[in-house]
Amino acid sequence: MKVLLIGSGGREHALAWKIAQSPLLDEFYAAPGNPGIADHATLVALNVEDHATVIAFAKEKAIDFVVVGPEAPLVAGLADDLRAAGIATFGPSKAAAQLEGSKGFTKDLCARYDIPTGAYQRFKTAEPARDYVRAQGAPIVIKADGLAAGKGVTVAMTEAEALAAIDECFDGAFGTAGAEVVVEAFLDGEEASFFCLSDGKTALALATAQDHKRVGDGDTGPNTGGMGAYSPAPVMTPAMVERTMKEIIEPTIAGMAKDGNPFSGVFFAGLMITAKGPELIEYNVRFGDPECQVLMMRLKSDLLPILYATATGTLDKVEAEWRDDAALTVVLASKGYPGAYDKNTPIAHIPEASEEAKVFHAGTALKDGELVATGGRVLNVTAFGKTVTEAQARAYALADKVEWENGFCRRDIGWQAVAREKA
Ligand code: AMP
Ligand code: GLY
Repeated sequence: MKVLLIGSGGREHALAWKIAQSPLLDEFYAAPGNPGIADHATLVALNVEDHATVIAFAKEKAIDFVVVGPEAPLVAGLADDLRAAGIATFGPSKAAAQLEGSKGFTKDLCARYDIPTGAYQRFKTAEPARDYVRAQGAPIVIKADGLAAGKGVTVAMTEAEALAAIDECFDGAFGTAGAEVVVEAFLDGEEASFFCLSDGKTALALATAQDHKRVGDGDTGPNTGGMGAYSPAPVMTPAMVERTMKEIIEPTIAGMAKDGNPFSGVFFAGLMITAKGPELIEYNVRFGDPECQVLMMRLKSDLLPILYATATGTLDKVEAEWRDDAALTVVLASKGYPGAYDKNTPIAHIPEASEEAKVFHAGTALKDGELVATGGRVLNVTAFGKTVTEAQARAYALADKVEWENGFCRRDIGWQAVAREKA
């Protein structure tokens, strides 16, 4: 099979590393890719926003299958255009990608199909939103409706904070993403991420993970795209996974199909495990970054036929096997992230991978033959262990061998699971 992978982050490096191990693979391209992905695929400098260019390249190389990593091209309809050109594509249609692209869309789906989630209202102007907040009281959650790079959510512990967040949205802090606001009940519990494939009819549960959104140790400081993750998430017991499939995923698949937007791709469900059970916080329609890195480390099966079956409606014919081990990833980021940071800082050394640990590239580039850091989140040091404690020790041992002066990482990734394992 000739495969084209779209994306350039740590998630795509992990996908590329797994796809490259497939005996079904004949030729492999990535656009635009990164220096880590270049170990597995030929990099192509395509403008992914220009769908005609992507299609023309795919035709020229007789690409059989395109795997889309990030959400932006999906929300922009890249998968629709590729499929219309006759190219099998992993990733949902533009209509189905609204599950990530519009929080209001997802909340309305939940309401229509009785999927457990926090009570909510949608607003297009500030005054009724403010009235609703005053009536409900704090804590309460304010969300910009659209894609806001993970920054559009305020969990307000006081009414004043909630009112300020409403004003911020309508004052344009998140651009058009904040033109509509969802106000949602605060859910109390432990968070977990659940990954599940769907071809529009069938579901294939993958695995669970827990991430660390805050930049600082002890879950302090501003939110980020994710400073680390581990899999599996201990709170997602087999019984909880079964309930999530029955109460959340299956009604979503059926509801999306019934509404004329069948979903094919990966559900990345953000869950709150409350006293009542699993409740949906949000859907993403792509693999998590860095959650994907720990998932790919744990996946024993060949990834390529699984993704292809998802894209071609034959998911009932495949299975996914997982290592029992835990996997944990530590994100090395540029000093200053998630605020301003220097670009093009030199990375002097990346240690070799071993059986148990590996460094994925997320925001790197080659400048005059030297490896430099170009992004906020730059490297993902990922390791296995019999326990999260062991995976954590291995990941940090390898992270400490990276020579990059402008880099930093959290030192406590996995702390909740490590504390559980000690208890
Ligand atoms: P989201 O971008 O929707 O994942 O929200 C970002 C974070 O805000 C989530 O990971 C949760 O930690 C928190 N959050 C979102 N919605 C709620 C809610 N209804 N109750 C409590 N926390 C929430
Ligand atoms: N790590 C969170 C995300 O990929 O959205």
